[in-house]
Amino acid sequence: MATVNENFLKLQAGYLFPEIGKRRRAYQQAHPEAKIISMGIGDVTQPLIPAVIEAMHRAVDEMGRKETFRGYDDGGIGYDFLRDAIRVNDYEARGIAIEIDEIFISDGAKSDTANSQELFGLDNVVAVTDPVYPVYVDSNVMAGRTGPMDSRRMYHKIVYMPATVGNGFVPEPPKEKVDIIYLCFPNNPTGAVATRQQLEKWVQYAHNSGAVLLFDAAYEAYISDPAVPHSIYEIPGAKEVALEFRSFSKTAGFTGVRCAFTVVPKEVRAKSPNGDSVALNPLWSRRLCTKFNGVSYVTQVGAVATYTPDGQQQIRSMIELYMNNAKMIREGLTRMGYQTYGGVNAPYIWLKTPRGLDSWGFFDLLLEKANLITTPGVGFGPSGEGYIRLTAFGDPGNVKEALERVSKLS
Ligand SMILES: Cc1ncc(COP(=O)(O)O)c(C=O)c1O
Repeated sequence: MATVNENFLKLQAGYLFPEIGKRRRAYQQAHPEAKIISMGIGDVTQPLIPAVIEAMHRAVDEMGRKETFRGYDDGGIGYDFLRDAIRVNDYEARGIAIEIDEIFISDGAKSDTANSQELFGLDNVVAVTDPVYPVYVDSNVMAGRTGPMDSRRMYHKIVYMPATVGNGFVPEPPKEKVDIIYLCFPNNPTGAVATRQQLEKWVQYAHNSGAVLLFDAAYEAYISDPAVPHSIYEIPGAKEVALEFRSFSKTAGFTGVRCAFTVVPKEVRAKSPNGDSVALNPLWSRRLCTKFNGVSYVTQVGAVATYTPDGQQQIRSMIELYMNNAKMIREGLTRMGYQTYGGVNAPYIWLKTPRGLDSWGFFDLLLEKANLITTPGVGFGPSGEGYIRLTAFGDPGNVKEALERVSKLS
């Protein structure tokens, strides 16, 4: 009989969202009349912008004519028209020199953040912030870079860096030596952003220790403070030590369309077993060519339409709508006496649970007394205990009603 990859057995069966779903269903069954509002969803709710829809229609028509039909995207790393638009608009416009062959188009930042660990040896020590987007951890568990999970739901051999009120939810580099560091700013779930000075410390740490930073900037479009960096490459020296992940999911409502990209600068290197220094860029390219056949032409045409003047303006309005929700949530809850964090440069609000309730205790209270679904912070890691995550991706009318319900809780 074939044997299984035993690392998968270390994973807890999906825990957070299935458990939320279970509690929601149980409540709805017992109270069929309850109109439950979800403030826990990490998915967008607004439709695709007109510029994208028009472009995708045109691309579909091209696919229907023999002369303009396209098959495989050669090499599976993305069409030049999209990679060049990214190079110019996301990087050159911020004074960052990224070359087109350092940009790789993919079907999602989730897959890229999960797959990028394949570039590294199994003996590397992985560091993550706690709370954390679970994909970074679970993909390393599957690969065999960790020991088992302990009673606090932490995996042996992973270095967890607590993100707390004390450090403004931006941990300092660890004292011990680690090799692969996942950073996510603006952060899911805390909504925190890292300042230029904080990112400089991370880049410095990576230079000093030989570590590689895996920088997830999936929410960079939500940054409103002009002082906050959108890209790790705004930090001098980052091109030698960092990969960056971006996505059209939250920037342009592409969660159901699927398009993202990863930047792997040619300067980033890691050591081979015989001590040679090896560039990661060709390895990532090789990985994609072997395991991926690219994102559909129609999708890439839709993605590039987000960079047109109309596209940019329409995206800004969509993000504004979500960030108005964030403002409503943040200000409304603060007025009611709750302690909130995030929600200024990120679509997530990190709410301290009141009266010493734990995350699940407050989740249950909000479900039962206000018919609201939230996300218990402890599901993102032990330092998330005592918090819940609220998202700004809902419908503004629902957000308003949700806040009215919370205001009636005593
Ligand atoms: C931090 C972070 N990175 C990546 C993703 C996934 O993005 P994509 O839809 O491009 O796979 C998410 C989605 O929730 C996220 O929160």
